[in-house]
Amino acid sequence: MIRSRILGVGKYLPEKRVTNFDLAKMFNTSDEWIRKRTGIVERRFAEEGVYCSDLALEASKEALKNAGMKAEDLDFIIFATLSPDHLFPGNGCYLQPKMGLSEIGCMDIRNQCSGFVYSLATADAFVKTGMYKRILVVGAEVHSSGLNFTDEGRDVAVIFGDGAGAVIVGPSDDPSRGILSNHLHADGSFADILHLIMFDISKKPCLTHEMLDQGCLWPKMKGKEVFRVAVTKIPEVIQEALKANDLKVEDVDLFIPHQANLRINQFAAAALGVPEEKFYSNIQRYGNTTAASLPIALCEALDEGLIKEGSIVVFVAFGAGFTWGATVMRW
Ligand code: ACO
Repeated sequence: MIRSRILGVGKYLPEKRVTNFDLAKMFNTSDEWIRKRTGIVERRFAEEGVYCSDLALEASKEALKNAGMKAEDLDFIIFATLSPDHLFPGNGCYLQPKMGLSEIGCMDIRNQCSGFVYSLATADAFVKTGMYKRILVVGAEVHSSGLNFTDEGRDVAVIFGDGAGAVIVGPSDDPSRGILSNHLHADGSFADILHLIMFDISKKPCLTHEMLDQGCLWPKMKGKEVFRVAVTKIPEVIQEALKANDLKVEDVDLFIPHQANLRINQFAAAALGVPEEKFYSNIQRYGNTTAASLPIALCEALDEGLIKEGSIVVFVAFGAGFTWGATVMRW
């Protein structure tokens, strides 16, 4: 059986740092409130004029370099984002020519905070069937253009940041290394708990001044409900993924969870009996970068020497939809 493996990793964070103190100048919040509830200290915001595909380009270039490959070596692009450059075409189509490529297939995956695990699972399936051999999987977000920086939107605005992360997925020459399994779930009955309406396709036209006045441009979140379900589903899908590979929690060298909220991850780690240092965290520096958070965290965990050849690494994510999932790999 062909097994797929991550051949290279890259990340890109915009330079502009926005601290909790900066946000407190814009609306009624405080560094203490944000840190206590989310763990976030600062996040990065892209400058005016920068597209999500621009952030993705930088992360992708770094991933190619890390894999010792050129853009022309790629045969497919999977782009995960909830903040695409425009509604359509998909962001893969905006990224492809920026990378100097044409003709190779491009696909967007719209699964919010779980976008990266869904994309990785898709790439894994393509590689396993032999359909593609060098797939760029990129997660990127520009949240800062779509947040409501007033008291009304403060519960959501303090959480999110901009950034991009990318990996190259291809066949593993060592069959014991690579992606061991993927586990994807969704429960659409929770769709209204965390969503961004933006437009309503059942209305003619689908966007009106009245809808804009009512705030359709801003994401809405029932934070307590997200928290409640996330702390249940994250340990659950990790257990499912470990069981499928006959592994125990102690066999895992590093858990890399989506960086939604430090408290969610602390709860999940405690529920599993995993020491906090084995549940990777960098939300303090970047906030929640949605589809980009896992590949950014992977890059940093590698830089910090937390992952070695043969390490068992588990990705886990939970987000809007609700959607959630986990990937187990031997590095
Ligand atoms: N600054 C100061 N006060 C605030 C802010 C803010 N940014 N936001 C809300 N408040 C106020 C509220 O108005 C409320 O005031 P009141 O008591 O006078 O009515 C008070 O703080 C408490 O509000 P709650 O919404 O009850 O706050 P809670 O303790 O639930 O914390 C939070 C909110 C941080 C969003 C929490 O619910 C949470 O962590 N939820 C998980 C959601 C999450 O992590 N989402 C990430 C994105 S989704 C994903 O990736 C999974």
